[in-house]
Amino acid sequence: MKFSNLAVAGAFLASTALASVDEIVIKGSKFFYKTNGTQFYIRGVAYQEPATSTDSFIDPLANLSSCARDIPYLTAIRTNTIRVYGVDPTNDHSDCVNAFADADIYMIIDLGSPTDSINRADPSWELPLYQRYTAVIDAFANYTNVIGFFAGNEVTNNDSYTEASAFVKAAVRDSKAYIKQKGYNKGVGYATADAADIRTQVADYFNCNSADESVDFYGDNVYEWCGNSSFTESGYDQIVKNFSSYSVPYFFAEYGCNTVKPRTFTNIDTMYGSEMNDMLNGGFVYEYFDEANDYGLVSLVGSSISTKSDYSAFSTEIVSATPTGVNSASYTVTNTALQACPTVDSLWKASSTLPPTPDEDLCNCMSKSLTCVVSSSVSSSKYGDLFDLIYGFGVSDYVSGISTNATSGEYGAYSMCELKDQLSWALNAYYSVQSAKGNGANACDFSSSATTQSATTSGSACSTKLAAVGTAGTGTASGSTATGTGSSSSSSGAAFPGASPSAVFVGSWQLSAYILTAVLSGGAMLFL
Ligand SMILES: *[C@@H]1O[C@H](CO)[C@@H](O)[C@H](O)[C@H]1NC(C)=O
Ligand SMILES: *[C@@H]1O[C@H](CO)[C@@H](O)[C@H](O)[C@H]1NC(C)=O
Ligand SMILES: *[C@@H]1O[C@H](CO)[C@@H](O)[C@H](O)[C@H]1NC(C)=O
Ligand SMILES: *[C@@H]1O[C@H](CO)[C@@H](O)[C@H](O)[C@H]1NC(C)=O
Ligand SMILES: *[C@@H]1O[C@H](CO)[C@@H](O)[C@H](O)[C@H]1NC(C)=O
Ligand SMILES: *[C@@H]1O[C@H](CO)[C@@H](O)[C@H](O)[C@H]1NC(C)=O
Ligand SMILES: *[C@@H]1O[C@H](CO)[C@@H](O)[C@H](O)[C@H]1NC(C)=O
Repeated sequence: MKFSNLAVAGAFLASTALASVDEIVIKGSKFFYKTNGTQFYIRGVAYQEPATSTDSFIDPLANLSSCARDIPYLTAIRTNTIRVYGVDPTNDHSDCVNAFADADIYMIIDLGSPTDSINRADPSWELPLYQRYTAVIDAFANYTNVIGFFAGNEVTNNDSYTEASAFVKAAVRDSKAYIKQKGYNKGVGYATADAADIRTQVADYFNCNSADESVDFYGDNVYEWCGNSSFTESGYDQIVKNFSSYSVPYFFAEYGCNTVKPRTFTNIDTMYGSEMNDMLNGGFVYEYFDEANDYGLVSLVGSSISTKSDYSAFSTEIVSATPTGVNSASYTVTNTALQACPTVDSLWKASSTLPPTPDEDLCNCMSKSLTCVVSSSVSSSKYGDLFDLIYGFGVSDYVSGISTNATSGEYGAYSMCELKDQLSWALNAYYSVQSAKGNGANACDFSSSATTQSATTSGSACSTKLAAVGTAGTGTASGSTATGTGSSSSSSGAAFPGASPSAVFVGSWQLSAYILTAVLSGGAMLFL
């Protein structure tokens, strides 16, 4: 269908898949067109219209007129794939996604968003984010021009934040399980920061232990080639050494250093040339729209686009990206082995034992079984203070069911529940201990933040699960699987942009003088 007809057709067929392209499939460490087996190299562009505020983002695939405005500029620089960093799964994306398909442009979509993702400084993998991830998967999995999804972007970006990778890898595992259960045929990858001292550990971690929990493709945000560099001077030669035997497709999820200006993009010839094109599956230039960091190829002023000098420099170089690669039929996969998981040591602190899969049924069973719960009138912005109070006691019985330690690989069974349920579990644990000591009368109050309810077990399925987890909350519920709700209705409002992604915690969750003081001065009367 001609592009100019799309807007009209879209009006009649709003959510029907119109355009169709040959799907991209993965074999070994390469991408291929499904039908003719020609190798597919990503000639990609990072595509995310800048947000107008830090607590929001613009879904770049929800407005046909902006997609239609940009597609000609993208096709003129031979773009065959875009990378999108944040979408709202409740929007209708069919017009834009089909318009891109009509232009033979594929896409990889981030499952998180600029406002809702795994927080490297306070990582968790909880039900609301899981519901967002599965809703994005549902919203995009039917399109032939969607190659797959990223379960995280630069979450572990230096050696202070290595624990966070355990939570991202759990997200990879659960997104893959959801895709498999739904019968979708899309990959899940991770886009890493190219941090030199942990490059090997991160790459190994996301490709170790078992294929079910490892990435289907690995994106690396590489800014090493600045100005007129070379294969050896840039360090690209080391990347070839490091990733030549990696078992899944490796590509640059971002590239385009701008410390030497104007950018010349002389790396493109090498990226797609004979020194790299056996192991490097192309990459995404960062980025289409200009922002304060000055990486844009074009400027958006009002609703019109003007190209920058980087755009013409890029268009000059991208013509040299013409690798033919191998045909799928004549490609024998030899590098099937996963990496060894990195050793947990003073540098790498993420165990290969991953956090639990979010399980809405188990969380519901648990919260109904409690006698003391957080009051519905308490704003979620207060949860952080209440968690700090509970953790401040330094009593593990109060938090064993909700705590995580990615270094030891120990996770409370309810650490994957939404924060409200986790908080209720902890308040109830405190209440139970106090009640057993005969102090129950005032122990479910917490400055009127908690309230008692009559506990129910809601059937034998709940009883069985709760018994398996145990009162300490540290067991594993048998039969817990990645079932997902699959319906955006049950998750809307919980995890989408605008909702607070997680409570703001005062201090760390460790026993600290600051927290103790707060408890003793403000809470002594309440806590007996
Ligand atoms: C294989 O199919 C793709 C997509 O239809 C097409 O772009 C490519 O040129 C084809 N390869 C060959 C060798 O014809
Ligand atoms: C859609 O994009 C066009 C072109 O940029 C813009 O003028 C319009 O305001 C956008 N619509 C919405 C609802 O954002
Ligand atoms: C995807 O396709 C399946 C099978 O045709 C259909 O049941 C499902 O509703 C579609 N999902 C969306 C979001 O369009
Ligand atoms: C990691 O990054 C954070 C902020 O991004 C910084 O505060 C910290 O010092 C960095 N750690 C190391 C080891 O570079
Ligand atoms: C890069 O090389 C080109 C061609 O040799 C030259 O014109 C240009 O000045 C060089 N740029 C820098 C920053 O060295
Ligand atoms: C990557 O290369 C560096 C330096 O050559 C080496 O120390 C490291 O072990 C390599 N990592 C992998 C995954 O091959
Ligand atoms: C987490 O486990 C590691 C390894 O067992 C241990 O050294 C560390 O103290 C634990 N962290 C917390 C906060 O308990």
